[in-house]
Parts: sequence; structure tokens; C-alpha cells
Amino acid sequence: MIQRTAKMEEVAQAAVLKAGEVIREAIGNGAMFGVEHKGPSDYVTDVDRKSEALIIGMIREHFPDHHIMAEESAKIALQPGFTWIIDPLDGTTNFIHGFPFVAISVALYLDREPLLGFVLDPLRGELFSARRGGGAYLNGKRIHISDVSKLEYALIATGFPFRSKAVLDPYLATFKSIFEKVSGIRRAGAAALDLAYVAAGRVDGFWEVGLAPWDVAAGGLLIMEAGGYVDDFWGRGDYLGTGHIVAGNPAVHPFLKEEMRTFLASALEPVVKSGRVDSHGIK
Ligand code: IPD
Ligand code: CA
Ligand code: CA
Repeated sequence: MIQRTAKMEEVAQAAVLKAGEVIREAIGNGAMFGVEHKGPSDYVTDVDRKSEALIIGMIREHFPDHHIMAEESAKIALQPGFTWIIDPLDGTTNFIHGFPFVAISVALYLDREPLLGFVLDPLRGELFSARRGGGAYLNGKRIHISDVSKLEYALIATGFPFRSKAVLDPYLATFKSIFEKVSGIRRAGAAALDLAYVAAGRVDGFWEVGLAPWDVAAGGLLIMEAGGYVDDFWGRGDYLGTGHIVAGNPAVHPFLKEEMRTFLASALEPVVKSGRVDSHGIK
């Protein structure tokens, strides 16, 4: 098993780095993206598709019996056995605008547990990686969540609920309440990279409503392996299934969870019984 996991790690890392080259070469290339509108403020480009095909091709070549969930071509649910969860370009809106905060996220689940997680920032050449029980790394060097314990010094990342405008008011209530207590809030536009930044201690916490599994699968493992906490808004641990995610270091996480409980958990419950605002097309 250890040998097989090492092979999976090797293939995933190679695939992510290759896809990173595609994104890096394309980002200066404005007119050539073939931008397509998927929904309100939601886009896909030829580069998302090219990156996804490349990653899937390399995984299939080595592990033909594994399941693949991927944002642009394989919106399946988590399966029994091995499931790869792929976001070939996280931060497509940033990418289209040449705003340099984008990522590739690849995770491997075994049944319902994360086994491997990779988040690559192709523009800075930063590869965040984690193996369950083996710690989290940035370019091969061990990373840890921050030790900031005073809220007034905490820097928090978030994402705006542009797909779920029905929850805008409770989201803004959360935002206001958190903003009043912490040092600052950032919305950089690539959730997988936001989570990797929590793992690396660059921000102290993160919350967002209605994310997809491919946004959070790798980043969630990175945070746990870096010594942090990640949960849904109800404390049931199902951030992958609900997409309502709250993460942070051991001091900041309880505070953020309480903020979610106060404003967002109750507001979301009646909106979607399943806890998901948006199914992201997953069958
Ligand atoms: C998006 C980014 C963004 C988040 C969105 C995601 P995409 O991913 O992670 O930060 O706010 O909800 O959909 O569509 O660029 O892969
Ligand atoms: Ca994404
Ligand atoms: Ca994407």
C-alpha cells in the first residue's frame, strides 16, 4: 500500500506540474482563452479544459480503475474506493483578467477520507502537498498553520457568495461581525489557494459558502496535516459534501465557527435541507 501511495503521489505531482506549465504559458495570452459563460460570474476557458484533460490523461494512464471527479468533464459524487478530485484551474475569473492568484487542485480520496492533496500556484512555482498522517509541505519543506492567537492580529481569508446571492445578507452579517474583530480580511479569488495559505500560516482562517468538492478537497487535507482545523458550519465535519467551509488555526477556528453558527448556519438550513446551496451539477 505504501508503495502504491508513493506512485499515486508521484503521478499526481507530475500531472499538477505539467498542467501548471499550460496555465503559466497561457496567462499572458488574453484573446486566446475561448472564454465561455457557465452561469452568473462563472466562466470556463480552453485552458481549464486543456489542464483538466492533461491531468485526467496522466491519472488514467497509471490508475485506470480509479474514479475521477473533475470540474469541467466529470461531475460525479465521491465513490467507494479511490476517487481523484480535480480542479484544473482554480480562480478562472482571476486568470481571465490576468490577476495573478490562480491554482490547480488535485486530491485523492480513499472511500470518504482524504489521502493525498496537492495545490499548485503555477505563477509563483509553489507546490503545497500533503499525505494523510505525513504532514504538509511547501516545495518539500514542512509547513504549519500560524500561531496567531489574538483575534486583533488575525488575517482572515474568505470568498464572496456570487453563486448564492440568496445568502448575501447573512454572509455580510458574518463579514461585518468578523471584520470588526480581526486585523484584516482578504478575498483573493482562488479558494484552493486560500486554504493552502491557511495551511502555510499566511492567513489564520478562512470561510466560504457553497464551494464545490474540487475547491476544498486538497486544501482541507493540507490544513489538517499542517495542524489546523476544517469543518462545515454545523460542526459535522462535512465540508466536502456541503461546501460550506470554515477553517483556521486552533485559536481562530472556534471563533470563526461561532460566527458561522450565529449568522450563516441558521440562515442556510431552510435554504437547502441537504446543506448545499448549489449542487455544482454533481449527480
Ligand atoms: C472559484 C474560486 C473562488 C470561489 C468560487 C470558486 P473556479 O473557483 O475558488 O475563489 O469564490 O466559489 O468557484 O470556478 O475559479 O475554479
Ligand atoms: Ca475552483
Ligand atoms: Ca476551476
